[in-house]
Amino acid sequence: MKKEPSQHEPLNAYGDSFTPTDDGRGVDISSQRQDELDKGAVAAIAARVQERGAGAVAAVDLGGGFGAHSIRMAQAGAKVTMIDLADMAQENFAKAVESGMAAAGSLEFIQKDFSAIAADDVPEGFDVLYSQRAIHYVPYQEAKAVLRTLFNRMAAGGEAFISAAGWDTEYGKTYPDRDKPVEERFAYVTQDMQEKHGITHKIVTYTEQDMAKLLADTGFEDVQVTRSTFGNIKASAKKPAL
Ligand SMILES: C[S@@+](CC[C@H](N)C(=O)[O-])C[C@H]1O[C@@H](n2cnc3c(N)ncnc32)[C@H](O)[C@@H]1O
Repeated sequence: MKKEPSQHEPLNAYGDSFTPTDDGRGVDISSQRQDELDKGAVAAIAARVQERGAGAVAAVDLGGGFGAHSIRMAQAGAKVTMIDLADMAQENFAKAVESGMAAAGSLEFIQKDFSAIAADDVPEGFDVLYSQRAIHYVPYQEAKAVLRTLFNRMAAGGEAFISAAGWDTEYGKTYPDRDKPVEERFAYVTQDMQEKHGITHKIVTYTEQDMAKLLADTGFEDVQVTRSTFGNIKASAKKPAL
């Protein structure tokens, strides 16, 4: 049974509520607040829209959950392709277009496992890759393959904004694969943490170094990595310009 937010203590120091995604892959945070990574993605879109105009900038949201940040990116003038295993966003997209928050045709939803992503699922030469709190649901090598497919499809000079479950989050501290190298980490968090965070699938936890390696191995440069107060790993990076 889904628990209502009021039945749960706040999840973290930000006061986020327990708003589980449909399929046990964590809690939707983007619909509750924006962080620096969210703002970075919107700023990257806004800068390009200023140069080229709205509708000429494309963004991809991998594991967008309820779609809140896809809507923000569309509001900033991007055409957004969001990919998620579960459809929790289409209704929100329709409302955003109906209410005039987002332009018609600016929000596309693809229901798919992102491990099976094909290059032509996303626009050729897209500008901004955004993915918050999702890439850790696949093993490291799969994450690398997904990111490589997207990297190859991205415009030169494109920007990525990605976050993953942290090695030093409260669930990371008791995570059974904690001491394995990142390539071998893929396990359930402990039962109490599964219940608290709504994470009922295996995950990888990342250190700052693991995330830097993931992005550098994919081909990105200018990789900047930070750790949130909660302990999640946040990164921005660029595809080299031509
Ligand atoms: C913790 S939620 C994050 C949602 C939103 N990005 C946020 O930050 O609030 C993780 C999302 O990633 C999606 N997801 C996880 N693994 C996936 C996969 N292999 N393919 C597609 N979507 C996936 C889940 O369905 C879920 O919506």
